[in-house]
Amino acid sequence: MQLRRFGPRDLSRVYDLACSSLSENYNPALFLDLYNYWPEGFIVAEEDGRIIGFIFGIMMSKTEARILMLAVDPRHRGKGYGGVLYREMQRQCAIKGMRMIGLEVRVSNQVALHFYEKMGFQIVGRISKYYSNGEDAFRMQLFL
Ligand SMILES: CC(C)(COP(=O)(O)OP(=O)(O)OC[C@H]1O[C@@H](n2cnc3c(N)ncnc32)[C@H](O)[C@@H]1OP(=O)(O)O)[C@@H](O)C(=O)NCCC(=O)NCCS
Repeated sequence: MQLRRFGPRDLSRVYDLACSSLSENYNPALFLDLYNYWPEGFIVAEEDGRIIGFIFGIMMSKTEARILMLAVDPRHRGKGYGGVLYREMQRQCAIKGMRMIGLEVRVSNQVALHFYEKMGFQIVGRISKYYSNGEDAFRMQLFL
């Protein structure tokens, strides 16, 4: 498995992965707008020339990043790829001098909660009806 920066030609594959893994509707144009703002924050994992996972982070301020999306193809989960993607994102944040990474996760998403806790995140709050289906989010944070 290899990591590389996302490029606009990857949009349709990444969009498919996002829609199938994240149960939320996204506007593909938004991906490109945010990517242009901080390209280092959009990283894909590739195996045999095919994208099998990605992480998408944005800069909220000079010191704070936020993970918007992270997904690994179901056939490739549990192999450590999500962790590799996350650690590369964290490395990019450190290079930029950021101090904190935040994110939201569905309260029902036990796998993602375990995953982020394993990466060192802590739950710091709950946001009522954060998702379009009315589900609450946990807000999680990690200090670098
Ligand atoms: C969350 C996700 C990205 C994890 O990717 P992954 O490549 O399978 O994760 P890893 O193999 O790197 O696992 C790292 C750690 O996460 C935790 N974890 C991963 N899968 C888990 C599972 N099914 N149950 C419990 N904990 C799990 C474990 O602590 C694991 O460490 P360990 O293997 O030493 O026990 C993946 O499950 C996914 O794409 N889920 C759907 C999309 C999603 O929910 N994204 C997050 C919200 S934005």
